[in-house]
Amino acid sequence: MPIDFRSDTVTRPTAEMRRAMAEAAVGDDVWGDDPTVLRLQREAAAVFGKEAGLFVPSGTMGNLCSLMAHCHARGSEIIVGSESHICHYEQGGCSSIAGIHSRQVPNEPDGTIPLPALERAVRTNRASCEEHSHPLDDHFPVTRVICLENTHNRCGARALPAEYLDAVGSLARERGVKVHLDGARVMNAAVALGVSPKRLVQACDSVSVCLSKGLGAPAGSVVVGEASFITKARRARKALGGSMRQSGVLAAPGLLALHKMPEKLVQDHKNAQLLADMLLKVGEKHVKSGLLRLDQEVDGGGLSTNMVYVRLSVAANPVISELGREGFLTAAEDDFTIRFVLHHEIKEGDVRCLVGKMVNILDKFENPAAGKNKE
Ligand SMILES: Cc1ncc(COP(=O)(O)O)c(C=O)c1O
Repeated sequence: MPIDFRSDTVTRPTAEMRRAMAEAAVGDDVWGDDPTVLRLQREAAAVFGKEAGLFVPSGTMGNLCSLMAHCHARGSEIIVGSESHICHYEQGGCSSIAGIHSRQVPNEPDGTIPLPALERAVRTNRASCEEHSHPLDDHFPVTRVICLENTHNRCGARALPAEYLDAVGSLARERGVKVHLDGARVMNAAVALGVSPKRLVQACDSVSVCLSKGLGAPAGSVVVGEASFITKARRARKALGGSMRQSGVLAAPGLLALHKMPEKLVQDHKNAQLLADMLLKVGEKHVKSGLLRLDQEVDGGGLSTNMVYVRLSVAANPVISELGREGFLTAAEDDFTIRFVLHHEIKEGDVRCLVGKMVNILDKFENPAAGKNKE
């Protein structure tokens, strides 16, 4: 059986989850009759300190339902990070499906968006426009939401601190816009930062939380927020075809994901750190030659969680193929980058074994830039 480092989405339900699925009390959730879904929604809302929750089939739908709920008026705009999942990997659904304009603002390597850049990007009638005593320019869409992502996937699965979220929340309130958090891996962030999930997302109006990534459930996300927001998100879910019937069979493992799995994330983060440290140490010659570098080493700031991005000076795909032959599944993030994702099915011994193989494989690859200094 290969060791699968491609993503934490590959995690399979635990034996306890499978039992819970078999035994789940169910009903028709579109009629509001599924007790297990209702319980998951209630308990997720409590964990994140919000009024209500909504079970949705995926993280993509969680984000889209949330944005549709916040942006019911035509001509609405959201602000997204240039490296965000919403911007890169959701087919632009907020535009193609929901008619929402998205404005991208560059992310810092640690996943944050600088506050002055956010301040400049927001276009509303409130605060700065009133200061200058003129209404919003007719040319502009109306900004309704600032979207953040925590942990930030493309920025090395970095955890954004609560203080940063608070600062964005204050800015948003001052300007009359909402904050939506793509919290696909927000439990990783809370665990890494050592704060409660409730505290971490205190400043966010809505959060979409994936149960099916590091938390190990087979499917599903929960959106949490105010009750009136959840009512709108529920309507959006129906329009998107995401309302399910006896979905208690999925909510049951979701409850275990919510309550029991977060503690396991600690080990995933340790294993990611071990992988990064060992690659730097065992692969030192490749680091020195410039064949290999890690974000952790280069970008400095930011708190890493369960991913390690390895930047190569040679094409990633041949290295990935060789790793595959050795029994390690990995995926290219781009032509020169391999992403390693840690999760509860990967043990410390697997990491140690992978590093040995990876360094041996890299021995066969010449760094194309290495000879140039000699000239
Ligand atoms: C940050 C982030 N948001 C949203 C999603 C979408 O989740 P799903 O694959 O369940 O649609 C992902 C998926 O990997 C993600 O990494």
